[in-house]
Amino acid sequence: MSERRLRLALFGSGRIGQVHARSVATHPDIDLAVIADPFVEGARRLAAETGTKAVADPEEVFAEADLDGVVIASPTSTHVDLITRSRAHGLAVLCEKPIDLDIDTVLECRDKLGDTTSPIMLGFNRRFDPHFAAVRGRVAAGEIGTLEQLTIISRDPAPAPVDYIAGSGGIFRDMTIHDLDMARFFVPDIVEVTAVGSNVFSDDIKRYDDYDSVVVTLRGRGGELITITNSRHCAYGYDQRLEAFGSTGMLSAGNVTETTVRKFGSEGTEGAGPCLPFFLERYAEAYRAELDAFAHSIRTGEPCTPGFDDGVTALVLANAAEESARTGKTVTV
Ligand SMILES: NC(=O)c1ccc[n+]([C@@H]2O[C@H](COP(=O)([O-])OP(=O)(O)OC[C@H]3O[C@@H](n4cnc5c(N)ncnc54)[C@H](O)[C@@H]3O)[C@@H](O)[C@H]2O)c1
Repeated sequence: MSERRLRLALFGSGRIGQVHARSVATHPDIDLAVIADPFVEGARRLAAETGTKAVADPEEVFAEADLDGVVIASPTSTHVDLITRSRAHGLAVLCEKPIDLDIDTVLECRDKLGDTTSPIMLGFNRRFDPHFAAVRGRVAAGEIGTLEQLTIISRDPAPAPVDYIAGSGGIFRDMTIHDLDMARFFVPDIVEVTAVGSNVFSDDIKRYDDYDSVVVTLRGRGGELITITNSRHCAYGYDQRLEAFGSTGMLSAGNVTETTVRKFGSEGTEGAGPCLPFFLERYAEAYRAELDAFAHSIRTGEPCTPGFDDGVTALVLANAAEESARTGKTVTV
């Protein structure tokens, strides 16, 4: 028997909103009911492309009939309000990271949500990347013995515009937060955070008292050591790699390139094709898998992973990293 099609609404038609709109609109079992964005021109363009309608007032979403859930891809400052209102209407929520930049606001939001049952998922899409998920699955299966060290490298191709940086909450809450969640994908219980930050190339970022380059070291409860290396720029594209080192071996996932074609000659070997440009291309499959997992939770009522509390923990770790970088001290969490 075929399952009922799900109906989702989307808040925000910007960079990540466009990714979600296309994933939902092309999903075989989900309909995109409406796109809401006060910048209605953007919403209209995206709605025309994805075969749905656009509204300027986010409130209109809640008047939509037979809605199962929402995808929140609007600016971070709107997330808590939209999560709270969506849940009050009994809707399932897939919300982009971070929940908010302020931990007290996030904890208040959690209290307000209470034990309501509709699923809530946090947009830590990298957990759904097939390469990283395969490494994690094989570590969990014991293929490299006991996990001792994890190395995560994540570099953006170029810094976001300065007005974005100004409101981003800083590199740890905006960018490293993805890697902190990836660390917890492997080692859920982190007990200690040490971080250093530097300004090696961008005076613009420095003007906002933010770093363009950071290294974070985490200690897991079992003594595992995790290193995260971030840069806001990278000459060869979007650099996304990780390595898990264990007592009996090592597993790694390298960059995904545009082509696997390589030239072999007497002078050496050469891999053709740069790294994929940015998150839209690199994580296209991950965003689709994330949506599948969200739909599964809506249909079954099973809790979403990563959920709201994973968003809380990632923010706590990001705050600890900021504190450590500013004070030069290791922070216990
Ligand atoms: N998971 C990821 O890979 C990823 C990537 C990029 C951004 N993000 C996150 O997604 C969020 C959006 O980032 P972006 O880069 O797409 O921003 P963006 O500025 O490109 O787009 C945001 C859109 O939301 C609209 N908007 C503003 N208020 C709204 C409201 N109340 N309701 C509906 N729409 C509203 C804006 O007009 C704009 O069109 C941020 O929280 C960011 O941290 C996640």
